[in-house]
Amino acid sequence: MLHGFLVGLTGAKRILEIAQRRQGGVDEITGHKPVVFLELGENFAQAARQNFVDAGLEDYIEVIVGDANESLATLENMTFDIAFVDADKTSYRYYYDAILEKDMLSKSSLIIADNTTFTSVTTYLGAPTPVTEDAKPIDIRHRAWMHSPEISVALHEFNEYVRHDSCTEAVMLPLFTGIPLIRRIA
Ligand SMILES: C[S@@+](CC[C@H](N)C(=O)[O-])C[C@H]1O[C@@H](n2cnc3c(N)ncnc32)[C@H](O)[C@@H]1O
Repeated sequence: MLHGFLVGLTGAKRILEIAQRRQGGVDEITGHKPVVFLELGENFAQAARQNFVDAGLEDYIEVIVGDANESLATLENMTFDIAFVDADKTSYRYYYDAILEKDMLSKSSLIIADNTTFTSVTTYLGAPTPVTEDAKPIDIRHRAWMHSPEISVALHEFNEYVRHDSCTEAVMLPLFTGIPLIRRIA
C-alpha cells in the first residue's frame, strides 16, 4: 500500500527493489522499464516473479537472484526513480553508497529504506521507540534477529550516515519500524 502510494505520488516509473516483493503490490508497475528486483533466495524470487506473471506484468520486471551486494555491482547504466531497500540490514549503507556512486538515482529521486528504527535501534540509542505499541501492525518482539547488536548498530550508523550526507536530504516516517525517505539533491 505504502509502496504504491509513494510511486503514485512521485510519478516514479523506473524502480529498483533490493529484495523481493512478498506482499502483492504490483499495481504501481506501470509498464515502464526498468523494474528490477535483487533477491537472494530462489524461492522468494520465484514467488515474487509469480506475482507479476499473475498480473500479466512479467515483461516489465527483471528478478536477479543472488546476493544484492554482488548483483548491484553488475548493473550498469541504469537509472531509477525510486530504490526500495529492504534486504539484509547490515548492508544498507553499502546499498545506499552503491546506488549513489553508480549514479543510479536521478536528481530528486528517492531511496526508501525499511525498518531503520527497529525498537532495538532506539533501545541501542537509549531513546524510546517513536512508534507507539498500538500503532505497530505486527508484533516484532518475537523476532530475535531484529534485536541483534550488529543490526542495531548498523542501522543506527546508516541513519546517521544519511543524516550527514550533503548529497541527499531525508525525512523519517515514524511508521511501522521506521521508513526514511531519502531524496537525492546533489
Ligand atoms: C523483509 S524481506 C523483504 C520483504 C519485501 N520487501 C516485501 O515488502 O514483501 C527481506 C528479503 O531480503 C532478502 N535478502 C536478505 N539478504 C539479502 C541479500 N544479501 N541480497 C538480496 N536479498 C537479500 C531475503 O531473502 C528476503 O526475501
